[in-house]
Amino acid sequence: MNSITVSAPGKLLLMGDHAVVYKNPCLVTAVSERLSVSVTESSDGASHFLTPGVSDTRFIEAALAVAKKHWRQSFDALSITTQSMFSGNYGLGSSAAVTVATLFALGEYCRKQIGKKELFSMAYEAILSVQRVGSGFDAASAIWGGTLWYDRLGKTITTVPHTPMPLVVGFSGVKADTPTIVAEVAKKYEEQREKVSRIFAAIAKLTTDAKAKTEEGDWERVGKLMDFNQEYLRDLGVSSERLESLIVAAKGAGAWGAKLSGAGGGDCMIAMVPPEKQPDVSRAIEQAGGKVIHITPQAVGVRREP
Ligand code: PMV
Repeated sequence: MNSITVSAPGKLLLMGDHAVVYKNPCLVTAVSERLSVSVTESSDGASHFLTPGVSDTRFIEAALAVAKKHWRQSFDALSITTQSMFSGNYGLGSSAAVTVATLFALGEYCRKQIGKKELFSMAYEAILSVQRVGSGFDAASAIWGGTLWYDRLGKTITTVPHTPMPLVVGFSGVKADTPTIVAEVAKKYEEQREKVSRIFAAIAKLTTDAKAKTEEGDWERVGKLMDFNQEYLRDLGVSSERLESLIVAAKGAGAWGAKLSGAGGGDCMIAMVPPEKQPDVSRAIEQAGGKVIHITPQAVGVRREP
């Protein structure tokens, strides 16, 4: 049987980090770094995984388990191989990408007509079975691609159309420990529910404004809204000195606004930057100890490769 290859994109969270876990909206864009999964029948009747670039194969195993249960297929004699463009531990969503690509490839393998919503609920189930927490925004981004408005844990998923987004991305050099930071926020939510709920409500309002400004292509305003979002993330205690110094450097060199992206504590910061200032901002981020990552937002979602 021929091999089936499917690729899925990584993501960057633009607005709504953490609040999204509590049924608030977020804005997320799919990025040009992709991960592909190939599925073929194995020649010896046993299953084989060859997964370079995938640090945690539990997501592939979870995708297989969900597909088995959902489609009542055994998938027992498969060769699964991966190929990853994800350069290093930047926190661009390789776990969601590998989960989505594996499920889509398995669906193609057994000739299922699988819709985006069905794929989403299967991928979200697989991801939760491994990491127990998470809003599912990363799976939606890997499936739909483009830039998404993601609300109420995936009850509302819509594409946000926009002109090219002038984004500069800097890696902090530190890998974020998402489950730990999400658990710390959950503890704060239990202990100071009123304060944390107020922060989430404020972030939700900023995210709603950012959606409208993204559609208008008013990137200066989106940058300002990112700044406000960052203030609330700082209040939540999820930023870090390193992220803050990259954010300060980007703004000092002319960025309209900047914030962390994702759980915080590490991974990447993003800055909205006038195009003519992008070389200065990139240089400032590198001088502050960050690594600029050249990715394009609004990448296409999961797809079968020729
Ligand atoms: O660290 P990342 O890139 O996986 O993003 C985590 C984003 C959170 O809102 C903190 C958690 C989630 O699942 O939405």
